[in-house]
Amino acid sequence: MTINGWAFTYVADLVKQMTAINLGPGKEYLVENRLAPLAREAGFRDVAALIGRVQASGDERLRRQIVEALTTNETSFFRDREPFTVLRQVVIPDLCRRRAGTRRITIWSAGCSSGQEPYSIAMTVIDHPLITSEWSVEILATDVSEEMLAKAKSGRYSQLEVNRGLPAPLLVRHFERCETDWRVVAPVRNLVRFQKLNLAEDFNLPFVDVVFLRNVLIYFDTPTKIDVLRRVREVLRPDGYLFLGGSETTLGLDDAFDRLVAGAGTFYRPRGAGMPEVAGDEPPVGGGAGPRFGTAAPMAARGSAVQASINPLGRR
Ligand SMILES: C[S@@+](CC[C@H](N)C(=O)[O-])C[C@H]1O[C@@H](n2cnc3c(N)ncnc32)[C@H](O)[C@@H]1O
Repeated sequence: MTINGWAFTYVADLVKQMTAINLGPGKEYLVENRLAPLAREAGFRDVAALIGRVQASGDERLRRQIVEALTTNETSFFRDREPFTVLRQVVIPDLCRRRAGTRRITIWSAGCSSGQEPYSIAMTVIDHPLITSEWSVEILATDVSEEMLAKAKSGRYSQLEVNRGLPAPLLVRHFERCETDWRVVAPVRNLVRFQKLNLAEDFNLPFVDVVFLRNVLIYFDTPTKIDVLRRVREVLRPDGYLFLGGSETTLGLDDAFDRLVAGAGTFYRPRGAGMPEVAGDEPPVGGGAGPRFGTAAPMAARGSAVQASINPLGRR
């Protein structure tokens, strides 16, 4: 390892200041490994030399590249499956009922990485029997990483990437061949609007009905998590829905959210929104085997302020 404590602190402060990502002590190896390719490409002897140059010159381009290299962009299509099953079986039917007057639904994928999440949402929406041509659905997809946004906008994925989580029928229906890769077809791409947005700064967004904020909060410290959740709540409609990553929660951070469980899926609603009213019993997204909605979750509270299980017939 070439970096010393001082260089590590400089990088950790830079990343924290620009993204709120918390690189605590013990992440020296991560910094070294992530910055080594950048140092090589930019012609530096090693990572320490790269950091030394940035410290001395304040080179804005190198600073941005360092921050980009230290964002974790791991993602896949229909990641964890359940949120998309809940979106299809609970959220869309409920919102179609609630928004019957305007026929407008807005979904925000915050921290969208290379786009698999917002395109999974778009495929779920476009294939949904209740979303007819009279409906206007907008999916806003944001990230702090310009590199990830550029890839996401292209809608182009390798065979390896589509193999991760994308059911074959959806690949056939919503992708076209692009040399050895696959590209999301225009009708699905056009549902998604990509925008650079730093969650650590004010959002200035219109109200949204659903927020996917998945596997992003884990990189922030507790005060930042609290602040981001509060501001997400301010743009989420009072009867909206929030999805977090499997290891994330609002518990202990924002008690103005209620935690709800449907089958194997967990989601959050602003306190007082209560249980969604849905009917029907549709198969999991993409068809095939998967968690059946409303069969698994017990009513027992699991430490949340309010937790309830629901089933597709609205019975508890
Ligand atoms: C691990 S990925 C999660 C992608 C996707 N949500 C999922 O669950 O598969 C985390 C993403 O959050 C983004 N991110 C990190 N800090 C951010 C910030 N302050 N504002 C916006 N996005 C941020 C990263 O660039 C990265 O693309």
